Amino acid sequence: MLSELAFFLKQAVLQPKQTSSLVPSSRALAAAMAEHVGPETGPVVEFGPGTGIITRAILARGVRPENLTLFEMNPVFAETVAKRFPGTTMHVTGAQQAPDLMPATVGAVVSGLPLLSMPRSLRREIVGAAFKVMRPDGIFVQFTYGHTTPLSPEGLSALGLTATKAKKVWANFPPAQVYILRRSQN
Ligand SMILES: C[S@@+](CC[C@H](N)C(=O)[O-])C[C@H]1O[C@@H](n2cnc3c(N)ncnc32)[C@H](O)[C@@H]1O
Repeated sequence: MLSELAFFLKQAVLQPKQTSSLVPSSRALAAAMAEHVGPETGPVVEFGPGTGIITRAILARGVRPENLTLFEMNPVFAETVAKRFPGTTMHVTGAQQAPDLMPATVGAVVSGLPLLSMPRSLRREIVGAAFKVMRPDGIFVQFTYGHTTPLSPEGLSALGLTATKAKKVWANFPPAQVYILRRSQN
């Protein structure tokens, strides 16, 4: 456990902007993120798995490894997670590249990215990329430590999305709010 924390912390120090947190998510937060997916979801994508705490929770929900595609920019995290979860597909690149790398058949994108620490244009690009690879009924699951939605009301409206609150997880440092983004009904 300590070595896991030390491993994460080292990457946080080496890549502070990308990692944007000193510790990985708690198991409680990982479970709250993963509860929105299961075997019935079909293909699932995870953005920014880090050391794989949410990846493990997604697989524990019954998502088959061959149905789970991961996008992780940090090659050190990517190599570790690819070894830990054989059968999953790892892309060592930015989440914003997803539409170039996979078909639009995904049922859910689960994101552990530090969206609120990113420039607004990148935030929109990444969420837009998620919806380009998802089926019309696809959901984007995101946690945030902030007091607002992961995208501003203008950003949501520009992408034709609505955001709803799911679980608030107090057993995390800091406490986190899970949000679900969906395409708005016309
Ligand atoms: C806050 S850490 C979260 C790690 C893990 N999901 C967790 O909850 O413990 C953010 C992760 O996103 C990765 N990341 C940051 N920007 C990214 C991007 N544009 N595309 C893919 N991964 C990215 C970082 O390298 C890091 O692993």
